[in-house]
Amino acid sequence: MSETLETLPSTDRKVPQHVAIIMDGNGRWARKQGLPRIEGHRRGAESVKRALNAARDFGVRYLTLYAFSVENWNRPKEEVDGLMKLLERFLVDQHKELMKRKIRLRVVGRYRELPVRIQELLQRAEADTSDFKDQTLALALNYGSRTEVVDAMQAIARAAQAGTLDPEKLDYETLRSYLYTKDMPDPDLVIRTSGEYRLSNFLMLQAAYAEIYTTSVFWPEFTEAHFKAALDDYAARERRYGKTAEQLQNA
Ligand code: FPP
Repeated sequence: MSETLETLPSTDRKVPQHVAIIMDGNGRWARKQGLPRIEGHRRGAESVKRALNAARDFGVRYLTLYAFSVENWNRPKEEVDGLMKLLERFLVDQHKELMKRKIRLRVVGRYRELPVRIQELLQRAEADTSDFKDQTLALALNYGSRTEVVDAMQAIARAAQAGTLDPEKLDYETLRSYLYTKDMPDPDLVIRTSGEYRLSNFLMLQAAYAEIYTTSVFWPEFTEAHFKAALDDYAARERRYGKTAEQLQNA
């Protein structure tokens, strides 16, 4: 059995199980180089591969990447089309890699509104990798926390109407089971690049207790070393979940 978080000694538990990244700064990086915005995204796709390697090397089992938000449809058509092309190429290129490295792919978001070709590639990758347990790559595509909650509430209301769910018994665990991320643990660490301090409608419920790390580095320049710096910062933090420091010490 390969070494997973469960098999690591307890001293290594400072490694976050789930890291979620808001990959920001592609456009500004491109402008700084005098290049078109899409070139920033193309270089950003290279950073995605580096982040996936880093997650594996450092023992992070779940990596969720904010690749396309529900708001991103408002960008110029040329940029949206360019992003979809990059995504398609990434999915075609990475299919074999995901299989070889036994990485499970998951999509979080309203993926049925994506171009059909991308839906097909995502469905195939999800199906072919669904049995892999050690590492998960989740792509947040056409994702927004508010639409996620709306989708969950609609499904819950339908279940209540059909009599299969008792509204009086609705608790967070039940609501959680209707989220796109239902089969993943909550993120322990959210990283945002490019010096912004916003969550931008990303995993708002799931990140309720997550540690947040920001760096001024633009996403296309984000390397394994930057990933490691975020993990080191996380390891030095104390997570209290509403308890006092004394309670945690005596636990
Ligand atoms: C934010 O930078 C980034 C995005 C909106 C898209 C992220 C996409 C990629 C990293 C590449 C494709 C993804 C995959 C999975 C292959 P921005 O454009 O908002 O940057 P700016 O704020 O500097 O303009």
